[in-house]
Amino acid sequence: MIKTRVSPATPESLLEAAQLLKEGQLVAFPTETVYGLGANALDPDAVLSVFAAKGRPADNPLIVHIWDTAQLDDLCEVPRLAHPLMEAFWPGPLTLLMPRKETIPDAVTAGLDTVAMRMPSHPVARELLRVCGLPIAAPSANRSGKPSPTSSKYVYQDMQGRIPLILDGGDCDVGLESTVLDITSSVPTILRPGGITKGMLEKVIGPVNVAGSVLRPLKAGEKALSPGMRYRHYAPKGEVTLVEGEPDQVVAAMRALCTDAREHGLKACVMCFSEHMDELHSCDPHDLGSIQDPRATAHRLFYVLRQLDDEEMDVIYSEVLPPDGVGLAVMNRLGRAASFRTLKAPDVISRYGITL
Ligand code: TXA
Ligand code: MG
Repeated sequence: MIKTRVSPATPESLLEAAQLLKEGQLVAFPTETVYGLGANALDPDAVLSVFAAKGRPADNPLIVHIWDTAQLDDLCEVPRLAHPLMEAFWPGPLTLLMPRKETIPDAVTAGLDTVAMRMPSHPVARELLRVCGLPIAAPSANRSGKPSPTSSKYVYQDMQGRIPLILDGGDCDVGLESTVLDITSSVPTILRPGGITKGMLEKVIGPVNVAGSVLRPLKAGEKALSPGMRYRHYAPKGEVTLVEGEPDQVVAAMRALCTDAREHGLKACVMCFSEHMDELHSCDPHDLGSIQDPRATAHRLFYVLRQLDDEEMDVIYSEVLPPDGVGLAVMNRLGRAASFRTLKAPDVISRYGITL
């Protein structure tokens, strides 16, 4: 077992991290979205060890991180459409799929002919990329299938004994992974929604599609545009169920469901908006932030999902957001955490014979 150190980002620890990366080792680092698990993107062995450390299936490609657009030329073709997007959103939480060049090892792209490129804005990520001077392949720094880590504590929980160094940069700002946009298709397509929304993209480049599987499971035989969509993802160990409907009905339904689960001997709780914390106080409520502020919900979601594991919850009922703007990214992750299990509040209310 390797000893894993967690170190605040200082000029010394950044130099050490850069050195480790050059030697083919793995370093976890903060980005504005979630923590990444970095390896030299040009070193196939280093890239393979990322898959091993995460327990990630080899057919799920990685994102390559850069700090300067001058690095792109060696790595990929840059479609014309990329320029206004990079101008508007880089550095920041937008990943662009571009045709790859031969320099990118097959292990990075899982053999696909596109490569996912991202320029993060977090100062620690930028400084690390600049100091090491290499393109860095980095998936989220969680064990495969777990919620992405938004603080170094959760990176340590998953990667302890597997990597030598975690750079600590505090809590991640966005809290959900970057928007992944395919600009090689005839209409640019969001494969994974994130902090850069469809509306924000459309203001810059016109119409953008959203991949069908963003808000539902893949159909049998359907090809995943983004291989990451195939896997059970973002899921805590407990069973999450979404409850939809008018706020009053949802609150009453979640209370009944939670009570019922407890009567069956299960450890149960709810995830709800700040506005409902008081009404749901008997249900061990976990705060998703204000219903008025989807960015706050995005920021908190993975943290709350991780807490549910820490608390060994068996059953969790959650409120939902309208799937617009950042709400689309929230519902994509929450939907997968719940394996898209959804109950309608009015059905629950009549099942339990509740009158409001
Ligand atoms: O915010 C983020 O993007 C974080 C931070 C660390 O930068 N990274 C991240 O990486 O979320 P990861 O590996 O957890 O997710 C990458 C996603 C996966 O769903 C993967 O399938 C997709 O991007 N992807 C990568 N390369 C692709 C490609 N060539 N074609 C289609 N999808 C691709
Ligand atoms: Mg991930």
